[in-house]
Formats: sequence, C-alpha cells, structure tokens
Amino acid sequence: MPYRSDFPLLAANPALHYLDSAASAQKPKVVLDAIRDYYERSYANPHRGAYSLSVDATERYHLARKRIATFLGAKDPDTLIFTRGTTEALNLLATSYTRSTSLQNDRSGAEFVVTAMEHHSNFVTWQQAALATGARFRICELTPDGQIDLDMLASMLGPRTRVVAFGHVSNALGTVNPVSRIAAMVRDRCDAMIVCDGAQGAPHIRVGFDDLGVDAYAFSGHKMGGPMGLGGLIAKRELLERIPPYQFGGDMIEFVHDETTTWAPLPHKFEAGTPNSAGAVGLAAAVEYLDAIGMENVQAHEQKLVALAQQRLEELGDVTIYGPPPAQRSGVISFNVADVHAHDLATILDSTGVCIRSGHHCAQPLMRRLGVSSTARASFYIYNDESDVDALVAGVKQATTMFAESGTA
Ligand code: ALA
Repeated sequence: MPYRSDFPLLAANPALHYLDSAASAQKPKVVLDAIRDYYERSYANPHRGAYSLSVDATERYHLARKRIATFLGAKDPDTLIFTRGTTEALNLLATSYTRSTSLQNDRSGAEFVVTAMEHHSNFVTWQQAALATGARFRICELTPDGQIDLDMLASMLGPRTRVVAFGHVSNALGTVNPVSRIAAMVRDRCDAMIVCDGAQGAPHIRVGFDDLGVDAYAFSGHKMGGPMGLGGLIAKRELLERIPPYQFGGDMIEFVHDETTTWAPLPHKFEAGTPNSAGAVGLAAAVEYLDAIGMENVQAHEQKLVALAQQRLEELGDVTIYGPPPAQRSGVISFNVADVHAHDLATILDSTGVCIRSGHHCAQPLMRRLGVSSTARASFYIYNDESDVDALVAGVKQATTMFAESGTA
C-alpha cells in the first residue's frame, strides 16, 4: 500500500517508523487541505447567521455529517451526534441514559455489563454510572487468548441487564469482537441497551451501523486520519429521542420558557454550543480518503503486517505476545520482552526512529488479568509496510542485546 507519501509528516521524515496509530493516526494531505479550504473560503459560525457565509458554513457542516454517517453505514445522518471523540460520546450516552426517568425508577436490580478488555472510557464510564444509579456493575471475563468469553457473557444476561457495553476492537490486544453476534445474543436474552466502543473499529473495519444490531456506536475521528477533537456517537433514533440532553446551551433548544425548556430535534439536541465544524469537514475528507482505498483493503493490509510482526517477534524468542491469533486481530500487537520493561523498550525503539506505545493503554483491568503492569504496543495503519516491521524487530533485538550486555537482562 503505497500511501505513505499522502501523509506530509511521514513524507518529510523518511526514517520515521510510526507504529502508534491506535493512539492517533497521521493525517493525509487531503484532510489538511479540506480544513484549510473551509477556514479560507467558507468559515463562519454555523447555524447562527442569516448571511450567506454562515449559510455556506452550515451547509458544509451538514454535508460532512452526511458523508461520515454514510461511511459508518447509518442512513439517518441526524442520528450521528458529533462529540470530541469516543470518550465524550460514551460519557454523553451514560450520563443521558442514567438521567432518564425509566432508569431512575429501576434502581433495584438493574445490571450493567462490560468486558474485562474495555478501555477505561468504556469501563469507568459504566462503572461510575452504575455507582450513581445503584445498578450492579458486572464484568465479563476473557478467554486465555484474549477474546470475550461468550459463554460467560450469555450466562450473565437476563431480565435485569440494562446495558451491555463492549469494544469493537480492543485497543490493548487488537482483538476484533464479533459485534453482530454479541448484539444478537443480547437481544435474544434481554432488553438491554447495547453499546459498542468503536474507537479502534471504525478506523480499520467497515462498520455498517444500521446492520450491526447495536443501539449505539462511539468513534474518534483522529484515529482515522481526521483532526483531533472530533468524533461522535451514532445511535438509534428511538434511543436518542428517549434520553435527555447531555449538555445545555445554545443551538440545542427549541423554546426556552421561564420555568422549562424544550429541545431542538436531532442532532442538535445533543450538540450544545458552537460545533467543531472544521473538525467535521476534516473528518469527512478523511473518510472519503479511506473509502477510496476501501476498508476491506485497509483491514487486509493491517492483518498482513500484524501476522508478519507476530511471526518475526516470536522468532526472536523471549517475547510474550498477548491476544488472539492474527486472523482475529486488527492492526495491533501487544507484547513484552523478557526482563526489558516496556517503557525502556519504547525509549530504545524511539532512538532508532520507531514510535510505539508502552504502558497500560488505559486498560488497567485487562493488565491485571494479564498479570502485567504494562505492555509494549505496536499498531499499524495504511501508511505502514514491511520496512516498519523490520525496524520494529531490529529495535527489539537491539534492546535485548543492550540489556543482556549491561547484565540487567
Ligand atoms: N486510547 C488510545 C490508545 O489506546 C489513546 O492508545
């Protein structure tokens, strides 16, 4: 996939091996150009002006929403709520959901279910929502190879289950979860709200929200080549109409009376304040770019690189790789090298031009279950190729040798 040259930062740094796309993806030039063009030619505060420049800005914001909704497989663009990213999308949902009258009347016995592989944004959010409402917070464990234990999940579902929240793809293991299968399993057994954290899904796998079976899907634009600070929540219209707003302010009201207020229709009900319209325009350009490549090609490319990286790292010996086999993973490989702390490894790799992430990856419950405090994580995207795998493996080799020579390995 010869896409590296489309990314100005990578093109300007030919010796850089960027393997941290699960944290944030680099930006193709088309995205930077779209944002610049918007600011230079169409910029004003959308929704607020009768003058033509503001109307133009409103139209571009609206078109961006439509384009991104189409990319994510949602026919109704008004059910795409823009947020700062996945974290805010999940907080929006949990906050609005738990404020809803039906749950407040249902304090005894309600259960929220998450999995042990969740990112903190899909774990702590529901944990705290459960604490706030008196619901029982339950954690579905994983199989030894880092997949959701579906038998356990099935056994946890019942008439008390109100929320089932799980990730599309684990940010720390790369596990691709069978979203439709899980959604069908939940529907068969209970009447819960099904929430999917798509932060690591949407950038790598065709989503198809309308056919996925979940009630809500959260995503972050910056992980898919879009700008920082713009992501969203796609949810079923019925759900978004039933729950109250998340934040209050301009643009989200219909009528403000002295004592009460009524809400604007979707999506505005959930978008208080001046929107990040430039972010939306940038993300629309990013999804256009991804569509031109084809999400099936993106996924296949990453899987090929992950399989190669896994094989080459295993050949080194003394490397523990976490998670399922490459066929069940997205472009993420999480590992530890015997006696070399993940942070040391990341620092040594940095000195060779290889950018990886080390730490708990905002997944401390998962780390506890793996019996480690941190892992090293390399994550691949469309601009990576085999030379990045070579550089990763060479850097790991170098780290092992350095630690062996200094007597600390
Ligand atoms: N959530 C991002 C990651 O997994 C930052 O790296």
